[in-house]
Order: sequence, then structure tokens, then C-alpha cells
Amino acid sequence: MCGIVGYTGPRQVSRILVEGLKRLEYRGYDSAGIAVQKDVAQAGEPITLIKKTGKIAELRKAVPKDLPGHCGIGHTRWATHGVVNDVNAHPHLDGSGKIAIVHNGIIENYVALKEMLEKEGTVFRSDTDSEVIAHLISYHYDGDLELAVKASLKHLKGTYGIACIHADEPGRIVGARNGSPLVIGVGDGEMLLASDVTAMLAHTKRVVYLNDGEVVSMLPHEFKVSDGDDRVLDPKIDHVAWELGAIEKEGYSCYMEKEIFEQPDSIARALSGRMDFEYGSSKLGGLDLTKKELHAIERVRVIAAGTSWHAGLVGCQLMESVARLPATAELASELRYRNPVVEPNSVYFAVSQSGETADTLYAMREIQRRGSTVLGICNVVGSTIARESAGGVYVHSGPEIAVASTKAFTSQLAAFYLLALLFARMHDMSHHEGVEFLGRLKDVPDLVRGALAQRDTIQAIAKKYSHAKDFLFLGRGLLYPIALEGALKLKEISYVHAEGYASGEIKHGPIALVSPDTPSLFLVPNDYLREKTISNMKEIKARGGPVIAVADEGDELVASIADDYIPVPRTHALFQPFTMVPPLQLFAYFIALELGRDVDQPRNLAKSVTVE
Ligand code: AGP
Ligand code: GLU
Repeated sequence: MCGIVGYTGPRQVSRILVEGLKRLEYRGYDSAGIAVQKDVAQAGEPITLIKKTGKIAELRKAVPKDLPGHCGIGHTRWATHGVVNDVNAHPHLDGSGKIAIVHNGIIENYVALKEMLEKEGTVFRSDTDSEVIAHLISYHYDGDLELAVKASLKHLKGTYGIACIHADEPGRIVGARNGSPLVIGVGDGEMLLASDVTAMLAHTKRVVYLNDGEVVSMLPHEFKVSDGDDRVLDPKIDHVAWELGAIEKEGYSCYMEKEIFEQPDSIARALSGRMDFEYGSSKLGGLDLTKKELHAIERVRVIAAGTSWHAGLVGCQLMESVARLPATAELASELRYRNPVVEPNSVYFAVSQSGETADTLYAMREIQRRGSTVLGICNVVGSTIARESAGGVYVHSGPEIAVASTKAFTSQLAAFYLLALLFARMHDMSHHEGVEFLGRLKDVPDLVRGALAQRDTIQAIAKKYSHAKDFLFLGRGLLYPIALEGALKLKEISYVHAEGYASGEIKHGPIALVSPDTPSLFLVPNDYLREKTISNMKEIKARGGPVIAVADEGDELVASIADDYIPVPRTHALFQPFTMVPPLQLFAYFIALELGRDVDQPRNLAKSVTVE
């Protein structure tokens, strides 16, 4: 987690760093800080260091408006080692106060390195693992920061994205990556370095994605990337397609609200150009597989975490029911350490909004090591998972800033619907059925718009139940993962306990939780599972539990049984995940608002989980 930003160029660096950190705040918000090289004539310590516990707003207050300096680095922290306080905030200095570093990741062997350095007389100030990097660079420094960084990296075990400066090397920033993302921003007479492109969009759209094992040394007019063996590389400069407006709130009170309401458009983007009505199939060129290779696939596996895993669960049900391919979705954090059996003719999909989730990335590498093909379903273009996969599908939801994932989820679903169709058309599905499937898929943005139109009803219901301490979210079939997703959204942003369960499973235990104080939120399928779900609703009602039902509009029976009813546009049962999830996102959002929570940046979380 954590966000890193660095700038070197003609402009006042402190403003650019603080603005950049504000953009990266979603990655971590325990504390923040900046280190700025002093111009030669300035007196006192060689580097100005300002660090504050709390959000960027606190740092902003502490940074003088006219702070001089044109080269510096900044960090917003998601603590892993050492409590959240000013001292443990990054940047960290070496003993001389001339070297400053920021670090994203975990140095696993920091205790041994710290002991070694302490024996040499080094005094540590913080409890972080990261501080050891500053002292190690200092230990190796002999007039060349880049060389000192390279020598230091040889001793580090763990993950890192690092940026550092030295007071005696004006205008130079050295960065290195191993497991935590770093992007170089190539400006006009200025250079940036950051954890992701959102921190640099206001300045440049020309970027270079650093790979693991690479080191960059930059000055305002030039940069050099080299690998661990000191070979100078010729990296490709990419052009970022995102507009600055995409990372603004654009009139909404918070990013989550904006992203929820953006879904009709973001889903349309995910589908755009990929629906092939002529052949009743999908066009997914990014998979980079020949027809023969696609035909050879006999089973599908999904690896992911959190919300992306929920999308994978829906995706696997689709693969089975639509494409008749055996499919299972597994939590990446579990798979990696399980010594998994990788069956021949399987294809793995690594699903990740950020494309940087460490659990998913490591699980993916484990699978690749065992010889299987891993394809990515990612949102962030150029992210590590996207680059390390053999091919895949970009979901094109645009930047998702709120920590709670919403629009990326529905775009991931869209990708799975396209994939299921592609595989189905290679096996049992007829042309006619394929065209029908596409016709329904094409309507999804409008269906989502219709579901979002229930905003006021959902707000009123959320208000009514905002006092509840526990919720049950219940669904069956394709709506079971949606129930899991609804419960996760509520937990994440409102801190209210919620359990997602398969409706048919509650009688096997969780029904003991039901009481007048524990509302159950039912997702009602409109196929053969409807009757079963209605019976489950009655079981809850019989025990005095309040029932909220999300069901097709005009479902009088469900409306008469439920205490509260959220009607959503009618669609084929296969497409109900799209109509059911927006009300749950809004429900969580409005409860969080009622409880006065920080919707975009809930406690203890970070958007991009780049540590294990
Ligand atoms: C979603 O609301 C969560 N913040 C979280 O579960 C997230 O989905 C998970 O960390 C995976 O992230 P990724 O999609 O970027 O890999
Ligand atoms: N491990 C470091 C710390 O706890 C860096 C964490 C981060 O990536 O923000 O300070």
C-alpha cells in the first residue's frame, strides 16, 4: 500500500508533492510527509523534512506555502511496521540528514540489517522496517546515489518501491522497484516518479512503467533506467489515456457516489467494440490466444481477492452454466500457499481492479511457475498483473478512487459475460442464442440506470435500518456472490457487521442470529429459485426478523411479504447480478453517510493492497 511521489524540475516542489499525495491518498492515509532538497544558499539541515500523522490535510497545514526547493519526495503511509505517529511517517533520513527515502512495501530482513548497522554505530529513530534503507544507502554512499542504492538493494529482502534523494546531488531522484509499483512521468524539462499515474496526470501523460529489479535515476531533463546487472535499458514511453476529469469528484459529494452512478457508462465502455452481433459472439483480442488455443481450454480457474473474487465467483457460475466449462474461483491469498494442483488445459484468470494486489500477483506467479497460462482481467492499464499476464481483458472502468470497489466490479462482471459467451459459442451455444445473449448484455447499462433510479427509496430504507448492528445478505445461484459483495460493501464503509450467505444455507446455522434487531436483505431471483427464496424469506419473518427484499419491479408477492422492498428493472435471471448490485452499493453508501463515516477512505483500509 502507500503512495510515493517525487518531482524534480523548475517548479516549487512542495505544492506538487502535496497535490500528488492527495491523489494517492486512497492508497493509504495513516500519515504523510515530504522531504525537499534545499537550494544551496539555504542554512540549517540539508533537507527539509515535514511529516504528520493523519491525512494529507494535516500535512498540507504543516507545509509553508512558500517552501523553497525544486526537488523532493513524498509519501502517504499505510503502516505495516511501527505504530502510526509522526516519527514513523515517511520520509526517513540517514544519520547525516543528507539522504531521504520513502518506501512502499515490507523489508523482511530489516531486523538483521538494523542489528548490523547498529553495530556500526547507526542510531535509528523510528520503529519502521523502512528506515533501514536510508542508513544502508548512507553506508554504501561514496558520492553517487544511484550506485549506493544499487549496492543497498542487494541486501534487501522483501518488497519495495523506493524513491530517494541526496542533499549533495541537486535535482536527482533515484527510484527502485521490487514488487511495489513505480511509474516515471516524463515531463517537459521536469520528471516525476509515483506509485501510480493519478499523481502525475495533471503534469504529464507520458509515462514509463518500471519493472521489478529496475532502478531509475532522474534529473529534470533526463532519466536513465537500468537493471540489477547495471545494464542500461531503453524503456518504452506509454501514453496514459485517462483524463484529469476522471479523477475529480465532478460535483458528487465523494468518489464512491460518483463511481456508483458512473456505472451505466463504465459498463458500456467495458462492452464497447466487443459485442459481435454478426457471429453472436464476443471479440476479445487482448486474450492473445489463437482459436486452437481457446478450443483446447477445458477448465477455467479464477484467482482474486475481495470484490474481484466476488466477480470471479459470478464469472465461474457463468462459465459453467453458459459455456459448460468447469470453473472455480479461489482466493489468491489461499491458493499461493496451498501447493495447488494445476491441471493441464486449464486457463487461469487473475482478476484485479488495481492490477497490483500482492496476493493475486504472487498467486499468479506461482501458477505461471507451474506452467499454466494466466490471463488478466484488470482495470489499471500497465499495472503489474496486466503486464505479467499472457494476455487478458482490460475492463476500462476508468480510475476508481474510492477504496470500496463499485464500478470496477460491474465492469469485471461485463468482462466475464463476454468471456462466457466466447467460450459458449465455441462449444454448445447456437448463433441464435448468442445473438439473444448479446441483446440482453447490450441492455445492461440501461438496466443499471433503472436500478440506480431507486436511489431515494434505498436512502429511506437505509435510514430506517441504520441503527442495526448486524445484517444478513442472502442470495442464491448467481445472486449468492452478489450477497457476499453487498455484505462486504456494508462492512467496509459503515463498519457495521454483515454476513453474506447463500439463502438456502441459513437454516444450517446463521438463522440463530435472526431477531427483530437483525435485518435480512434478500436478493430475489426471478427464475426457478424465486419460490425457494420466498420460503426462506418466510422462515425469517416467522422468527421476527425484518426482511428487505431486492426484487423485480411489480413482484407483488415479494412486496407483500417483505417489510421493505427495493424494485429493480426486470431482466433475464442470468443478468440479475447487474440489477441487484447497485442497490446494495447504495444501501451501504447511505448507511455509512447516516453513521457519519468517511465513505471514500474507511478506517484501516487502503485501495491497493500491495503487501501480503
Ligand atoms: C473492495 O471494495 C475492496 N476494497 C477490496 O476487497 C478489493 O476488491 C481487493 O483488495 C482486491 O483489489 P484489486 O481488485 O485491486 O485486486
Ligand atoms: N513498511 C513500511 C512502513 O510500515 C511502508 C508501508 C507502506 O507501504 O506504506 O512504514
